[in-house]
Amino acid sequence: MKGAVLLTGAAGFIGSHTAEALLTRGTAVVGIDNFDPFYPAALKRANLAAVEATAKRTGSRFVLIEGDLAEPGTWDRAAAAARQSNTDGSVSAIHLAARAGVRPSIDDPVTWAHVNVVGTAVALEAARRHGLARMVIASSSSVYGNCPTAPFHEELDVSRPISPYAATKRACELIAYTHHALHGTPVAMLRFFTVFGPRQRPDLAINLFMRKIAAGQPIPVFGDMATSRDYTFVGDTVSGILAALERIDRHGYRIWNLGHDHPVRLDEMIAAIGRAVGREPVLDRQPPRQGDVERTWADLTRSRAELGYDPKVSFDDGLAAQWAWMQQSGR
Ligand SMILES: NC(=O)c1ccc[n+]([C@@H]2O[C@H](COP(=O)([O-])OP(=O)(O)OC[C@H]3O[C@@H](n4cnc5c(N)ncnc54)[C@H](O)[C@@H]3O)[C@@H](O)[C@H]2O)c1
Repeated sequence: MKGAVLLTGAAGFIGSHTAEALLTRGTAVVGIDNFDPFYPAALKRANLAAVEATAKRTGSRFVLIEGDLAEPGTWDRAAAAARQSNTDGSVSAIHLAARAGVRPSIDDPVTWAHVNVVGTAVALEAARRHGLARMVIASSSSVYGNCPTAPFHEELDVSRPISPYAATKRACELIAYTHHALHGTPVAMLRFFTVFGPRQRPDLAINLFMRKIAAGQPIPVFGDMATSRDYTFVGDTVSGILAALERIDRHGYRIWNLGHDHPVRLDEMIAAIGRAVGREPVLDRQPPRQGDVERTWADLTRSRAELGYDPKVSFDDGLAAQWAWMQQSGR
């Protein structure tokens, strides 16, 4: 796909991989990121260096607009840059930037609401003001809360999120629906299920556990070890993001799950990480924490049929790739 994409969160974990995939396809990318303090900016600068190397290799244009997405002026600068980069007239947006942690959102729900909810409202309004062709927006499996029915299908009742983070993501889905209904912009909402792989955020369990197990330190384990997550390799998530960008015009407004359909129990996950790292994990058992859901499991019927989404990377292969990257990058 040619054209240009405004990509929020371009310096982040999923955003930097998405940027590289777009550039590789010949799409110009205008990134938006403010290097927010949720985790160190140096890690995000390193992600961007990889994106810039891909731009150089592919000859596709990459520009970063450094700024807060909740400020309309940031979008004005980005839209102007996209018009300069554009090759076929169509400018889309992929909006991935957010405050992404579940548990920290319990301590600071106002910041989470501002960045995620106000930020998404500003993004949608910018799409209208600048005549963007379509939007793809990151939601989360956390919107399902402790839903008793699994696997989770997109049409299930998601009116009981159990963390402020999850509530902001559900609010974004509703705000985006209203925007679509009023203004007609095609909008895809993508429910990502625990994404892992190279550049994974340092607060996420696999990254944290790999570093601690490698250092011979105990890993904090909350609850009874029977919780499970539908871990999804970042390359598979990115393939779903690009498919949604290509196909959302046929649907208008649509929610799609991007998971793996292979839930892994916490005890299995820890054992697999121990094998990948080559050391026996030592556990520091703690009581369950508020905000953590018991399980996630994506029903992929809709995304397979409508997006051609087909996650390919197994949990063990993904762990091996993440561990190789951590050793090579020293992260
Ligand atoms: N990683 C996962 O497992 C996962 C699961 C479900 C949903 N998601 C969602 O996917 C998206 C990407 O997550 P990620 O793991 O890559 O996170 P990330 O924190 O690595 O990336 C987010 C990026 O957004 C930027 N950002 C934050 N606030 C901003 C603001 N106000 N203005 C401009 N930039 C801002 C950050 O600096 C960061 O580079 C998020 O919307 C997240 O909620 C992620």
